[in-house]
Amino acid sequence: MRATAIAQPNIALIKYWGKRDLERNLPAVGSISVTLSTLYTEMRVEIDTTLAEDVLLVNAVESRTLLPRVSNCVDIVAGVDRPAVCVSSKSNFPIAAGIASSASAFAALVVAADAAFGSSLPRDRLASMASRASGSAARSLLGGFVELENDADDIRVKSLLRAEDWPLEVVVAITAPGPKPVSSGDAMEISRRTSPFYDRWVEQQPADLAEARAAIRQRDLHRLGAIAEHNCLKMHSVMWGSRPPMIYWNSATIACMQTIRELQNQGVGVFFTIDAGPQLKAICAAADAATVRAALSATDGVVELMQSGVGEAARLLNA
Ligand code: PMV
Repeated sequence: MRATAIAQPNIALIKYWGKRDLERNLPAVGSISVTLSTLYTEMRVEIDTTLAEDVLLVNAVESRTLLPRVSNCVDIVAGVDRPAVCVSSKSNFPIAAGIASSASAFAALVVAADAAFGSSLPRDRLASMASRASGSAARSLLGGFVELENDADDIRVKSLLRAEDWPLEVVVAITAPGPKPVSSGDAMEISRRTSPFYDRWVEQQPADLAEARAAIRQRDLHRLGAIAEHNCLKMHSVMWGSRPPMIYWNSATIACMQTIRELQNQGVGVFFTIDAGPQLKAICAAADAATVRAALSATDGVVELMQSGVGEAARLLNA
């Protein structure tokens, strides 16, 4: 009774920032993302009746700090009266550094736990369960361009465009690989409680979602870039206006933004987005990816580049 699933992280183009229900981890706003292809997290869940309690191995090293969140997520899928499990995760990118590692981890975890316990839950139930652990994880249950809608008292994910329908490339410029100082969950709460811009952020989100949805349907990179950059900078403004302020950027993050502006001024179709971390993600057509890579790698402070296409939904590996 074991199963292994794989999921790719997703990058939000219209961001989730803020919760309306802490208990159920329900977001205050809808969001739109693109699922990646080359970065991944694999999760293996094995039911082990000989264990007294759950065990978690992250890249082969036991982790007690991350275990409670993982155990809770397995409880949500299998119930609290379940036998203990050994969960092993493997990722090919740094965790907790603003590259959505929790999204791929919890998306893969719900799919693997569902299979290990033989519950065969529908995908929208699994998305809702993943979102209890990490709001953005629900979006990795689907591939391509994904919208997370805030339903009456739950969330719902829906596919806007399949991966093959708009094969863009995402170049991630890593400017500091370490873990972030404040988790996104804590930071969102600080924003909700203290930022004078928070209410306006929530109020304006439906208009940003509508604009991005239309741009994606038309496959209009310029239109999508304009709204995605605006939405990203607005989210960071909410954080900057919080008390204490939360500034995830470093000087290289800003240098990368300038590089993207220069490329745009030269007529290259590219835009940026930045999550709760100092890494910049540049989105462009496949034909421009080499130009974008070269410009970002020549930017002061960039320590590593990663690149990905648009990827598939979370899935079982041993089905
Ligand atoms: O899902 P969480 O709790 O890791 O929060 C994600 C927050 C952002 O990455 C900044 C935005 C988003 O929509 O992914």
